[in-house]
Amino acid sequence: MRRRPQAATVARVPRPFDLFAACLPGLEPLLAGELSALGLDPRPLRGGVAFTGDTTQVLRAGLWLGTASHVLVRLAEFPCRALGELQRKASLLPWPEWLRPATPLAVRATARSSRVYHTGAIVERVENAIAGALGQPPPRDAADAPAALVHVRFQGDVCTLSLDATATPLHRRGYRLDGAKAPLREDLAHALVRASGFTGDEALLDPFCGAGTIAIEAAGLALGLPPGRLRPPPLEHLAPFDPAAWESVRSEARRPAAGAAPPIAAGDRDAGAIAAARENAARAGVAAAITFHHGAFTTQPWFAAGGAPARGVLVTNPPFGVRIPRAEGLLALHQTLGHRARTLGPGWRFALLAHDVRLARRTGLPLRAAFTTRHGGLSVSALVGSIPAADLGGPPDDDGPGPGP
Ligand SMILES: C[S@@+](CC[C@H](N)C(=O)[O-])C[C@H]1O[C@@H](n2cnc3c(N)ncnc32)[C@H](O)[C@@H]1O
Repeated sequence: MRRRPQAATVARVPRPFDLFAACLPGLEPLLAGELSALGLDPRPLRGGVAFTGDTTQVLRAGLWLGTASHVLVRLAEFPCRALGELQRKASLLPWPEWLRPATPLAVRATARSSRVYHTGAIVERVENAIAGALGQPPPRDAADAPAALVHVRFQGDVCTLSLDATATPLHRRGYRLDGAKAPLREDLAHALVRASGFTGDEALLDPFCGAGTIAIEAAGLALGLPPGRLRPPPLEHLAPFDPAAWESVRSEARRPAAGAAPPIAAGDRDAGAIAAARENAARAGVAAAITFHHGAFTTQPWFAAGGAPARGVLVTNPPFGVRIPRAEGLLALHQTLGHRARTLGPGWRFALLAHDVRLARRTGLPLRAAFTTRHGGLSVSALVGSIPAADLGGPPDDDGPGPGP
């Protein structure tokens, strides 16, 4: 249930905290599912999912959520119609309980349909309030130090102040130092794997693996590894961080995996991409779970007769032709992909990330949109379905436009 805006006498942040896990638009239902699996009570909203919890839940969310990009703690919500009122009310918040004076601070503001609309002035007033409460102005946001990020949101004449519990976005897992040509954001790759219905006990194939993001996220899921395992802890840059609580949350994650990981195969015709994908998988601690293949997707061993496990999912984002040049031939590539997919057998399902649904339709696979979101400035859809039985009279062996750059 939504709390009513509070009056001016805000002294403590009410517990349990109002928390918000932000995500790419369209991923909210998948994120809500992840929060439910953590035993939390999710309320999907636009751009994320609200839930309640204490700092332990914040740590757990930061460690385990694969489709979220940030976790925010709501500090206060109050009616506000003037800048002076904003500074006065913001000054009443217990900033020293949350911010360390030496940690750089960044304040961001948005205002919609509100009497207080000048975002620069909003930022200044909140910075003044914080400086007053801490007894000194915190250092400015610096590129080389994790900053405490305060969000000020005016919606009508109601102001919400939130603190970002994540110093860097959660999708920056820390394993991907080397990008391929058009790498997927890790949270989007994670969402695609989940949308495919991957259970962690069946095979998974990505024949256009690029930096290996999809296979690496899938291997993490299959092995029961938390997506945030390589990242600095949430809250680490903030005053309430308790290293013992973080250790205890991390130790919950050190349960032995239930069984051996299922086979996961990834391929790309670009030797540089395969080399980067191998290194990324090694950093992610899942190299042993993935078999990499360098070559055109038509040469992927699992597409050879009898080469694939009986059950699995084909999860991939084939070249879109927008961020990667040389788009000609993509229709033929998708047609051949559809034909190859059928050779995997009826025990297989698929999830394709597509920018242009017309291209995806060329696969001839029965497509259903699982979600639509934005990636690299483009609208992209996750198209999922079951792979029908092989059609023996398939199209020619066309693996698309010539050798990659
Ligand atoms: C959109 S990118 C995949 C990005 C990947 N999901 C990631 O996270 O890095 C498409 C990839 O397909 C590869 N590719 C293009 N044509 C191919 C072909 N015929 N066979 C195999 N790989 C191909 C490109 O080298 C590129 O790495």
